[in-house]
Amino acid sequence: MNVLVIGAGGREHTLCWKLKQSPRCGRLFAAPGNAGTAKCATNLPVGVNDFEGIKKAVIANEIKLVIVGPEEPLVNGIHDFFINDTALAKVGVIGPQKKAATLEGSKAFAKAFMSRHNIPTAAYDEFTAENLKEGEAFLTQSNPPYVLKADGLAAGKGVLIIHDLEEAKKELREMLLEQKFGKASSKVVIEEFLPGIELSCFVLTDGSSYLTLPMAKDYKRIGEGDTGLNTGGMGAVSPVPFVTEVFKEKIERQIIKPTIEGLQKDGMPFKGFVFIGLIKVGEEPKVIEYNVRLGDPETEVVLPRIKNDLLTLFQAVHEEKLDEISLEVDPSFAATIVATSGGYPEAYEKEKIIYGLEGQQDKMIFHAGTTQQEEEIKTSGGRVLAVTSFGIKHQEALKDCYETLSKINFEGINYRKDIGFDL
Ligand code: AMP
Ligand code: GLY
Repeated sequence: MNVLVIGAGGREHTLCWKLKQSPRCGRLFAAPGNAGTAKCATNLPVGVNDFEGIKKAVIANEIKLVIVGPEEPLVNGIHDFFINDTALAKVGVIGPQKKAATLEGSKAFAKAFMSRHNIPTAAYDEFTAENLKEGEAFLTQSNPPYVLKADGLAAGKGVLIIHDLEEAKKELREMLLEQKFGKASSKVVIEEFLPGIELSCFVLTDGSSYLTLPMAKDYKRIGEGDTGLNTGGMGAVSPVPFVTEVFKEKIERQIIKPTIEGLQKDGMPFKGFVFIGLIKVGEEPKVIEYNVRLGDPETEVVLPRIKNDLLTLFQAVHEEKLDEISLEVDPSFAATIVATSGGYPEAYEKEKIIYGLEGQQDKMIFHAGTTQQEEEIKTSGGRVLAVTSFGIKHQEALKDCYETLSKINFEGINYRKDIGFDL
């Protein structure tokens, strides 16, 4: 079976790497891919939101299954585009249709969903320019820190956590009146601050049955000790030591089951990954956010731990037979460390030659922002590489990641030396 992975990051390289291991995988394609996907798939020069271009590639290459990596094409309705096109209707798409993708595309929609289905999350209210005054009054009545979230997709930048009341009001005005995050902040969710430790939970579902993948934790801040600006993710580990069996059971019962049942009750077909961003408040799990795709760099530790044939899992999702499969997970500890470009997460450098990849073919080096230019592999993004290793204990896995990274270099390379420091 010919397969296409849409996207160009570390997540998509990991998906290609894992799919390529399936004896059932025919020709594998990535659109647009990167220098890493080019090693296990054929890159197609098509953008993730170019649905007509993707259609042409799917037909020309007789692709039968499409896995959508990033959220944007899902929120833009790529799955609906396939269903509504007679030439594409039979092609399997892993990723929800537009309606369910709104769980990621609109924070207010996600909050209303959780409230309707009694899923534990922070208390909240939503505001637009029309009721700005009420929003300001809501802030005055709330306790700091204040959590302000742009309703729409804002490339991971739309959440503000502010300690000062006047500053929070000013930000609220800028979001609603001056469109600080463009259209994404024409509505703002203000919610209760939840103190606790975060983790990522991925659930693969065909809409009724589901498999809960191993838990992961990502390290979002640029600086060591979890300091400095937020990034897309600087590293990740799986499993998460503080997730006990009791806590896992709570997540399953209070959050995962009502989420999947809620999707069914609300008539939202969902074939793909529900990414539940969780926070452990005391001993209780609460939902911080939903995403409708895999996380990056969590994918780089979660997929390597799954022993099942990934293509078989995806086919079962497409055919709505996921109940026939049980998940097999490697009990080893996996860690990944992300190497970034100089300047990231602010304006960063590109086009730097990457040295030291040769001779490390046996290592799990996933490309995130790279391009191949003739004989050279160069940086092309903020997050450049994610290096994954296994160990019986987390120290072993991390040591191996750092050993691999010590042989890699490009001008301006930066990575956190303390991933897993809190475990
Ligand atoms: P999000 O884009 O929704 O993942 O939010 C970005 C980050 O903001 C999260 O990973 C949390 O660290 C933090 N955050 C979001 N909502 C809350 C909340 N209600 N309480 C505490 N921290 C939050
Ligand atoms: N690592 C968090 C995300 O992919 O959104």
